Amino acid sequence: MKVIVGSTQEIAEKGAQQYVELLAKKPNAVLGLATGSTPEPLYAELIKLHKEGKISFADARTFNLDEYCGLQPTHPQSYRYFMQDKLFDHVDIKAENTRVPDGLHTTPENVEEYDRDIALAGGIDLQLLGIGVNGHIAFNEPGTPWGSLTQIVELTEKTREVNSRFFDSIDDVPTHAVCMGIRTIMNTKDIVLYALGENKAEAIKKTVYGKISKKCPSSILQLHPSVTVYCDEAAGSLL
Ligand code: F6R
Repeated sequence: MKVIVGSTQEIAEKGAQQYVELLAKKPNAVLGLATGSTPEPLYAELIKLHKEGKISFADARTFNLDEYCGLQPTHPQSYRYFMQDKLFDHVDIKAENTRVPDGLHTTPENVEEYDRDIALAGGIDLQLLGIGVNGHIAFNEPGTPWGSLTQIVELTEKTREVNSRFFDSIDDVPTHAVCMGIRTIMNTKDIVLYALGENKAEAIKKTVYGKISKKCPSSILQLHPSVTVYCDEAAGSLL
């Protein structure tokens, strides 16, 4: 596991270079994408590079990590809406090449289809992750089996509380999400994990140096062959 600490802008620029290199080498690369506040500087950097003609997403395909159950794609807090707003609407990606799990049609067949479609696309080349204060990756909360595939998960009260900052009240935060599993994430070829802010410092310490334990889902990343952890100084302060 490689760790890079820098300012928010520095790490956004360094990470964005990984995307520039990947898409130059493999224009139809499959990107695993994340939502939340952490990836926003990276997405802003990718949009800037695209406008400067340095990166094209014309043949790229994307699969997002997760989506809340029950929110329409047009709901401002749905992850589909977030991706359109923060990245897709500003680059040359084709709408049909972007996938966000379907939080409205959650039959077992629909949910299982996601892993199948990732495999049919050739697997994820570069997976972007954020991290929860409890070490969750995607919405794989502590205790999630290592072998999990895309599934419906129940959000912990802590995660709903943390995410309530985006909603009018905690009661409006969905209780469930469709989320790529830990095995799905571990099957990706390269991973970049971003963490910003002091409240992520403990989770980052456990990710990098902690015992591999289901109590901290991100600790499993120690076993992945190619992970780069990008943190700002605050998130990296306990390393
Ligand atoms: C989002 C996701 C979550 C977030 C994590 C951190 O797609 O899968 O794991 O990455 O909750 O969220 P922020 O970035 O808002 O601190």
